[in-house]
Amino acid sequence: MTEPAASSWRAPGRVNLIGEHTDYNDGFCLPLAIAPGCTATVSPLAEPVLEVVSAQRDVPVEIALAELRPGVLSEQDSWAGYAAGVAWAIAARGHRLPGLSITVDGDVPAGAGLSSSAALECSVAGALNDQFGLGLDRPDLVTLARQAENDFVGAPTGGMDQLASIFGERDRALLCDMRTLAVEPVPLDLEAAGLALLVIDTKAPHQLTDGLYGERRSACEQAARLLGVPALRDLDLEDLAGAMDRLPDETLRRRARHVITENDRTLACADLLRTGQLRRIGGLLTASHASMRDDFEITVPEVDLAVEVLLAFGALGARMTGGGFGGCVIALVDPAQARAGALAVRAAYAGRGYTEPASFTVTAADGAHRLS
Ligand code: GLA
Repeated sequence: MTEPAASSWRAPGRVNLIGEHTDYNDGFCLPLAIAPGCTATVSPLAEPVLEVVSAQRDVPVEIALAELRPGVLSEQDSWAGYAAGVAWAIAARGHRLPGLSITVDGDVPAGAGLSSSAALECSVAGALNDQFGLGLDRPDLVTLARQAENDFVGAPTGGMDQLASIFGERDRALLCDMRTLAVEPVPLDLEAAGLALLVIDTKAPHQLTDGLYGERRSACEQAARLLGVPALRDLDLEDLAGAMDRLPDETLRRRARHVITENDRTLACADLLRTGQLRRIGGLLTASHASMRDDFEITVPEVDLAVEVLLAFGALGARMTGGGFGGCVIALVDPAQARAGALAVRAAYAGRGYTEPASFTVTAADGAHRLS
């Protein structure tokens, strides 16, 4: 088969409505794809190199195909790993890569916890699949994108982001069972419910390749081992008191309590959405935030302040979204109050001398798709 001149895909970032740090515990999460995303275009090159060009970077990265392996990129070029890693994952399946250029152009704010990396990986995976005629299906694209992130970039993340980016649907959140990888779209028509989902980018930087994310993950795995279950997913609210008695230290108890209660909140939230009760999910969102703050200990003062201000301002619910230690806060609000709520957060930040936050609203958008 002759290669096409070029192949382009667009893949979205995501907001996680609820279900945080549950994915690598084989649990449940409820993300939605959002309009900001990444466009990737793949085209052939005559030389045996992989070139990654970004509209957001001044200098492209070039890697000799013979040297394409984890660890090959310098710190400075590491951004290109999310794209190069997908090509590497395809080569690892036995496909001989020809010289190629990957051009990416993204508008998901980087480091904000909205999965700019999954948008990049998934758009590249779709474009490479088309360019090489690999015939991969959507679950395969998720797998390639995850391999790029976990095995090439080395971020020990749990797979929710790639699933959301590939399977996103307009006006639907996705109930993801991270053990079976089953995805159930549930209604999330914000406009019809007369609501808006406000996002505050706190600008407190969030970084998943540093140790804190991995530390949380290890603590959960240790708790599951001590409790004799394959993953914390295997425990529900009825098991909670017994699990608390059996865990030897307070940190492990808190980590496990977050995951067990968060799975329960996520399923409850999906139930409300399935039955058209979007206005009633606010309490679950706010309870999720309290659990991330007090039990999982992944929030930072900027994030807690935004949640506090938005709730005081009349939001139905508010929580940090994403991996944590900074990043974005979401709030379910009356659309007429979104702007004033965002201004109130900005004023509170100015009062504390924090970096000025950004704000915007999102709706549930379509997942990754071919362009042209
Ligand atoms: C990041 C990771 C996901 C997930 C969330 C927390 O976004 O990439 O896999 O673990 O953090 O819910």
